[in-house]
Amino acid sequence: MQKQLTILGIESSCDETAASVSHDGKIVSNVVMSQLIHQKYGGVVPELAARAHETNIIPVVNAALEQANFEKSALDAIGFTQGPGLLGPLLVGSCFAKALAFSLGIPLIAVHHIQAHVLANFIDDPKPTFPFLCLVVSGGHTQIILVKDYCAMEILGTTQDDAVGEAFDKIAHLMGLPYPGGALIDHYAQEGDPNAFAFPSTHMPNFDFSFSGIKTAFALFIRSKTSEFVLTNRADICASIQAVLVRMLLVKLTQVVQKSGISTIALAGGVAANSHLRQQLKQLAIQHHWTVFIPAMPYCTDNAAMVAITACYKHQFKDFASLKTKSLPRYPI
Ligand code: KG4
Ligand code: ZN
Repeated sequence: MQKQLTILGIESSCDETAASVSHDGKIVSNVVMSQLIHQKYGGVVPELAARAHETNIIPVVNAALEQANFEKSALDAIGFTQGPGLLGPLLVGSCFAKALAFSLGIPLIAVHHIQAHVLANFIDDPKPTFPFLCLVVSGGHTQIILVKDYCAMEILGTTQDDAVGEAFDKIAHLMGLPYPGGALIDHYAQEGDPNAFAFPSTHMPNFDFSFSGIKTAFALFIRSKTSEFVLTNRADICASIQAVLVRMLLVKLTQVVQKSGISTIALAGGVAANSHLRQQLKQLAIQHHWTVFIPAMPYCTDNAAMVAITACYKHQFKDFASLKTKSLPRYPI
């Protein structure tokens, strides 16, 4: 990696406004402002998200520069999330990044959000070596990716319907928990018995996933119980459903490892913060002699450190974007 480069990363693809500064390939600040406004709607409202990004972006970028102890004039490049994501939120980040890069006369670097989640594994040491498999699990994606190089990635398996994070959030919503409820399911599950309730799981014939069936099964389960029962048994219900979701992910991952012969595995995305998933993956690694990489918690859920680090690698290849670069709500890897 090129030495002494100072890069500002900006992330605004969904409901987190985030900025981070990297210097000499190391993260020196990481600021994330989560938008709480969506909680009462049970999901992200795109228009409200765009407005909140507009309000938050200047204070968030200023805080990132301040924490890093750098002036804007010290920046060598600006990386921003080009997509995939919500168009309004993406536009706020890209317009801000373009204006700042133009005014400072420095290069602009467009970053793919999922690529950035994968490269979050390169923030801390030790770093994975290529090729490796990455299980990307977020609110919008559930994929097993073959990572051949920093910017050469191939999807081996993907969800045919909902993402696993979406399933976590929907299940939490059905239990009356606020959005996004994935982390709350994880929290309540700590005290619960994963074998208390039996929920069905779906297994696709190839390397793909499907989570819509388990969501429906859970909705029917909740409908058949009183709210008092759900509240009293909350820990056991959370532990049981979480165990099924995590098992579905890891059964498929194990199949891909066996088929590909690649046993260096990384985890990425918001659901990578799930303690049961982290623990189960580490156990599998011991059992099968896999080498496993899991980003630190702040680099799993949406953040700009992963954007800044991706921009560092793209800077090496002089992969710069023009001011005409479009935001891409749908953006294949
Ligand atoms: O990567 P991310 O921050 O945003 C997207 O790109 O989607 O992922 C957000 C998702 C949400 O569905 C959230 O509920 C889930 O990650 N999540 C968790 C946990 N922390 C965040 N799911 C399960 N357990 C957690 N501890
Ligand atoms: Zn994400």
